Amino acid sequence: MSAVAPLPGPRRPCTLVVCRGCCCGDARKHPGHDHAGQLERLRAAAAGSGGALEVRTTDCLGPCDQANVVVVQPSAAGRRAGGRPTWVGFASDDDSTDELLRWARDGGPGLAAPPVTLELQFIEPPRDARVRSRR
Ligand code: FES
Repeated sequence: MSAVAPLPGPRRPCTLVVCRGCCCGDARKHPGHDHAGQLERLRAAAAGSGGALEVRTTDCLGPCDQANVVVVQPSAAGRRAGGRPTWVGFASDDDSTDELLRWARDGGPGLAAPPVTLELQFIEPPRDARVRSRR
């Protein structure tokens, strides 16, 4: 779906790259959502996944008007099966978090179909998109 470079590693798991730049996760700009709680949930799920799921954060990815943005990076196996990084916008509520986790646990891009309602939140990445994630 995009030109986002894969994270290194032949055994790389499905990875949720969570934008926490200038707008995503900012309660002043996007009130009414528990942004910190969302990241805690995602990190807890990754910690309990036995290495099947990773969660990283990144600086601004570009489409701030579609915050919160999460990029679902395929696992190495998912990429070999044709999966590509998938950008999800407006991922601020519990339902979005649940569906991101469900898809990633099921295998993510290339290995499992996304939840239909999450698919409605897929967005186009900006041209020359690059994800530089951090833990
Ligand atoms: S802060 Fe997330 S897209 Fe800009």
